[in-house]
Amino acid sequence: MIGLQWGDEAKGKLVDLLAPEHDCVVRYQGGANAGHTVVSGDQVYKLHHLPSGILHPQVMNFVTPGVVIEPTTLIRELDGLASRGVEPRTNLMISERSHMVMPWHLLEDQAMNAMAVQGEAIGTTLRGIGPCYRDKVGRNFAFRTTDLRASDLHARIAEIVESKRDLLRGMNQPSLAAQLDVGAITDAAALWAQHLVPMVGDTTNRLLNELDDGKRLLMEGAQGALLDIDHGTYPFVTSSNSSGVGICAGSGIPPRWIKRVIGVAKAYSTRVGGGPFPTELNSEIGQRIRDIGREYGTTTGRPRRCGWFDSVAVRYTARLSGVDALALMMMDVLGHFDEVNICVAYEIDGQLIRDFPCDASVIRRAKPVYETLQGWNCDVTGARELADLPPPAHAFLARIGELVEVPVEIVSVGPDRCQTIFVDKAALLDY
Ligand code: IMP
Repeated sequence: MIGLQWGDEAKGKLVDLLAPEHDCVVRYQGGANAGHTVVSGDQVYKLHHLPSGILHPQVMNFVTPGVVIEPTTLIRELDGLASRGVEPRTNLMISERSHMVMPWHLLEDQAMNAMAVQGEAIGTTLRGIGPCYRDKVGRNFAFRTTDLRASDLHARIAEIVESKRDLLRGMNQPSLAAQLDVGAITDAAALWAQHLVPMVGDTTNRLLNELDDGKRLLMEGAQGALLDIDHGTYPFVTSSNSSGVGICAGSGIPPRWIKRVIGVAKAYSTRVGGGPFPTELNSEIGQRIRDIGREYGTTTGRPRRCGWFDSVAVRYTARLSGVDALALMMMDVLGHFDEVNICVAYEIDGQLIRDFPCDASVIRRAKPVYETLQGWNCDVTGARELADLPPPAHAFLARIGELVEVPVEIVSVGPDRCQTIFVDKAALLDY
């Protein structure tokens, strides 16, 4: 399941809903920058690292090598669930290959956050994601979950801290450098080891065995494809492959096992942080979408930028991710407008463009070309089947399917599990 916009498409709700139809749920990229909200009855769960199948004790949940783990947040998440009667430690396995977001990564993220790139700050979630992936690729200063078992933990941490202090001082951040205390980090790491090592193992081998045994896996993407490090609106992206192309590298599962790809998009667009956003509405309509959709970041609480649905961007990410079914979320939020717009093309430097451009500075110049449709202007939160939706909502869904070139197979009309309409659930899950 892949987000097709800039994240926050409500994937968590769908993964939780479809988890019981699977044996395993797998988180394979990103880290605590993700914020997946799952609503179960009157309970709201906000998950960052944990796969959204964690509320189902019969489903095994995996955090695989492509995920970066911030241990303090993860332990808080585990304890938080346990205090609410969900025991996540029994159905969770974490890869020993996963890299860890260490205290120096959080400080580096903080130090770099104010710096602009192409005249604008990336505006990260400050969860240390970029610095951790940078060290993973750089190798010398990387720290993986398997390192928690090392006998020379103190020496390893001391070696890295020395270099990181120099780095932070070089960035003119002496007070951040001074926060790195080898003893305190080593003590903390010993505590993380106590909590986490019992769940750490070889997820790659285990998942390949599950597949050989005919088990059904649900792969849970984090963020959205437009934030993909290689294929998104670079440099205003996250540091992992958040489009469909990231599934195999992040999980260790080869492509031949991927049988169905569900792409998730909102009926409008949102984005947090910097970067181009062609259909952004800096207007009263944008504010209404934000208020009605409660568009504030799950991880950071930041107000999300809001705009109309962009079929140029979503067609691109759906193709890139090999999507065969679309899930269109938040149809209830758009039910408050007389008219709704869909972006069908961009006008860039006087030319009409249907293919999503590579370059952020070009995307920044794109003027959206809109098609205006009649709004449904009514409360659809009680709809439970397609026939319950009014004709203008049907016309909107059909037009999106046409423009994105993928049929809409799931429609969401509210946060609860029951507020989800499947066109043909049995056919969708027949793989
Ligand atoms: P980072 O992933 O914290 O480095 O942030 C890089 C960019 O991705 C920023 O613009 C963030 O706001 C955005 N981002 C990261 N994770 C999410 C997410 O889960 N939802 C929405 N935006 C995200």
